[in-house]
Amino acid sequence: MYRGNPDHVAIIMDGNGRWGKKRRLSRSEGHYAGAKRMEEIIDAGIACGIKVLTLYAFSSENWSRPSNEVNYLMDLPVRFFNKKLPEFMKRNIQIRISGNISPLPDKTREVLAKAVARTEKNTGIIVNFAFNYGGRGDIVQAARALIEEVRNGNISEDDITEEKMQQFLYTGDLPSPNMIIRTGGEKRISNFLLWQSAESDFYFTDAYFPDFTREMFAEAIGQQPVNSYLSG
Ligand code: FPP
Repeated sequence: MYRGNPDHVAIIMDGNGRWGKKRRLSRSEGHYAGAKRMEEIIDAGIACGIKVLTLYAFSSENWSRPSNEVNYLMDLPVRFFNKKLPEFMKRNIQIRISGNISPLPDKTREVLAKAVARTEKNTGIIVNFAFNYGGRGDIVQAARALIEEVRNGNISEDDITEEKMQQFLYTGDLPSPNMIIRTGGEKRISNFLLWQSAESDFYFTDAYFPDFTREMFAEAIGQQPVNSYLSG
């Protein structure tokens, strides 16, 4: 349990595949159930007063999964944002993406870019999707961007500090996560927010992500269960 009021909570949403298998469903059906649960957790994050919620939706390692599963995971954001964007606007939610979206299929890249652009001026909770994200890749791209800045004469080598490095990570100006939750029973970081998690608390639960309720989320961050906007 987290003591205090976390500003930034990050979640490794693990266990979708096993949730499906347990029910004799496909892994993709597990991801669909995970996406439904994600809607509830965003709602719970708002009710708990979280300022930033980072969700690990697709890791740079996930490309090695069977192609039908990868295709499904590329389709999910299209369905998700087409359905949810009007509500996100109404609820003042700002969407961000951490990760390299350039190699994604057009439809996925476009819907993610649209969600970011449309919600850019919203001032409520920031929901940051880690998509095609890897912590090592994040550090490498930040290092490359810094070298470019030095080359262009915008900064000198002496300006390279931890703070400067942090600004060039995909998470940019976001505060580091106070807390990282991992569902699904495994106790590993899986190349998530490697730099940003230096000071984070960790919370592990055996619950598969599609079973991870708003009450469990509230408990993880040390709050009382919170009312749902979704159920009215
Ligand atoms: C890990 O579970 C989960 C993923 C690789 C995908 C997580 C994605 C979502 C919850 C939905 C994302 C939706 C949008 C709209 C961005 P796993 O498949 O590794 O489960 P397992 O460990 O049981 O195999």
